[in-house]
Amino acid sequence: MSSVVPRHMRLPPQFATGWFAALRADEVVPERVTTFQFMGQELVAFRDASGAVAVLDAVCPHFGAHLGHGGTIESGCIRCPFHGLTFDGAGQCVGGGLYAERGYRALRTPAWTARETAACVFLWHGPDRANPGWPMPLEGLDWSGWSRPITNAGRALPRTNLFFPTENIIDMTHFVNVHKWDLHRITVPPHVDDRGFMRAHIDVTWTAGAQSQRPWVRRLGQRINSPFQVELVILEPGIAMATTLLTEAQGALRVRSLILITPVNAADCNIRAVMSVYDPAPGRLGGVVRRALGVGLPELLSPFFLAMGTADFDGDALIWSNRTHLERPRPLKEDGPIVAYRRWSERFWPEGYERIAAVEKAHHLHVVD
Ligand code: FES
Ligand SMILES: [Fe+2]
Repeated sequence: MSSVVPRHMRLPPQFATGWFAALRADEVVPERVTTFQFMGQELVAFRDASGAVAVLDAVCPHFGAHLGHGGTIESGCIRCPFHGLTFDGAGQCVGGGLYAERGYRALRTPAWTARETAACVFLWHGPDRANPGWPMPLEGLDWSGWSRPITNAGRALPRTNLFFPTENIIDMTHFVNVHKWDLHRITVPPHVDDRGFMRAHIDVTWTAGAQSQRPWVRRLGQRINSPFQVELVILEPGIAMATTLLTEAQGALRVRSLILITPVNAADCNIRAVMSVYDPAPGRLGGVVRRALGVGLPELLSPFFLAMGTADFDGDALIWSNRTHLERPRPLKEDGPIVAYRRWSERFWPEGYERIAAVEKAHHLHVVD
């Protein structure tokens, strides 16, 4: 029976092709080794001599010591704790303690391609880790006038398939049911835009605390609500962006939130938001705030929006962590183009990825034909 299911409706791969926010930029500090998990692999990050972020496999190619346990940074290179070989940011062995140069020069570990932008370190994950299949889509983003982007640790999403969070972004009815937004109008229906991204624009009213499991929080929040327009864009399975336009009465502020989803291992993901605020017409209040505190209104407000944005995943996380991937879902007209989204997102599937029983088991995900 499953042979007639189109490939794009099958369980999507956790380890997809694309750019993923593996770390916060401030997690990688000079002179220190940062160890982390990414796509089921142990990696190490450090700053090279130029200050750029370098990412290598944690396993030393010499005899397999873990560079993150006892490894040190010397002049922007990482030194293995076992026999003292050092590797530069490109993964080339550049020093060897007791070893002759002729020998250690042959040692190399393939470096990951890293880009530091929007308060995060993004890694390319694809068939060739040194040669990205396409440019990092956020690199051309214009931040002029926007407050410095900020982020936090985000939250763990146990047993979540990478593609669940972005599928949600074109799932119109979930905004009402999970986020408790009032959906007034879909001004631009979900579609693939001229840059090849999935895009939708909606008019909604947001109410504070509406997702809370606690009745008193919901009651308290009822008086704090706000209408706004949201432009939603899915750039890749690991990168989405919501631009919120507040009303004139709220100073017509714009809030840019990046929503970044990163597979940690075969079963689990992490999700984080990056927030930045733009004030198109800084008024008197902005001037007073800047004079008194030395920062503008956008810098002052972005931590609040970040906290709100992170809390806004509460309801989603509960669904994602317990959701079953249906190969034959029953979409209704009001849901949004879920099937079109799945067809679009197949471009991020590694070549040759097929749903096999062993993979499903490793994912700890339920699949129903
Ligand atoms: S295992 Fe790293 S130097 Fe030998
Ligand atoms: Fe959601």
